[in-house]
Amino acid sequence: MKHFINLDDLSTKTLNGIIDNAIALKKQHKAGEINETLKNKTLAMIFDKSSTRTRVSFEAGMAQLGGHALFLSDRDIQLGRGEPTTDTAIVIGSMVDIIMMRVSSHETINTFASNNSVPIINALSDESHPCQLLADMMTYKEHKGSIQGRTVAWIGDGNNMCHTYMQAAKAFGFTLNIATPKGYEPNQTFTNNYQDHIVLFNNAKKACQNADLVVTDVWASMGQEDEQAKRAIAFKEFQVDQDLMKHSNSDAVFMHCLPAHRGEEVSADVIDGSQSLVWDEAENRLHAQKSLLLYLLG
Ligand code: CP
Ligand code: NVA
Repeated sequence: MKHFINLDDLSTKTLNGIIDNAIALKKQHKAGEINETLKNKTLAMIFDKSSTRTRVSFEAGMAQLGGHALFLSDRDIQLGRGEPTTDTAIVIGSMVDIIMMRVSSHETINTFASNNSVPIINALSDESHPCQLLADMMTYKEHKGSIQGRTVAWIGDGNNMCHTYMQAAKAFGFTLNIATPKGYEPNQTFTNNYQDHIVLFNNAKKACQNADLVVTDVWASMGQEDEQAKRAIAFKEFQVDQDLMKHSNSDAVFMHCLPAHRGEEVSADVIDGSQSLVWDEAENRLHAQKSLLLYLLG
């Protein structure tokens, strides 16, 4: 059974194949060609956190491929009222062809995977966000070519997105400079596992040196709203602004998975400026995930 729970569930060759097919699907879609390969297939989408891009891209993607997507929020299904995860996994898996999950606990996704005979996609957990990295790597390739041998600067929180960039550094062969405030470093297990591909800093300017791509994310992720004020102080020196971008290569590009907070982790003139690829990056969620669905459903 093929799942997509972490980026490194798939080989580099497979990841590159998914990205190349995503670029082809994008061209096909823009040319108005119909591709109904997933006709009569159903995707269940389980959410216990908010989403704009993930929900719309998976739902629109399934519709474009001739299939159907079911939006299941934890407010609507019995999982939110305490039905056991394993029971929910068995029942939903018996009725649909593939399941996508955005849940607070990564363990819930693993439980679904071990109790299912259909593919499970992680659409963001507290640990990782592999679907976003498919779109980011696709976007880099479209604009700048191969990322192999390049330097990427991750500025801000050592969070789920940062962890997935660490996995991407290994899979796609780039160096990841990670700049976080002290105490906000990535999870130690990730740091140990990907140590050959990352360099840790507590200084954003140093991390940006030689960077071809600068990436950031919110200072307080979903579920950390109570820490917002404390984090705004801790991350004060970690805003990606024009001054910081000047420390990276002159042709460096900027990415952010969105939603963004202008004036916090990124200045408006960077995210809305000429180096920013955020709109293509967001749109590419659609094309990358259509390619992923086609791969997982064989
Ligand atoms: N980047 C991302 O996953 O966006 P949403 O939270 O809107 O799905
Ligand atoms: N780190 C963010 C990513 C949102 C797409 C969060 O988990 O809220």
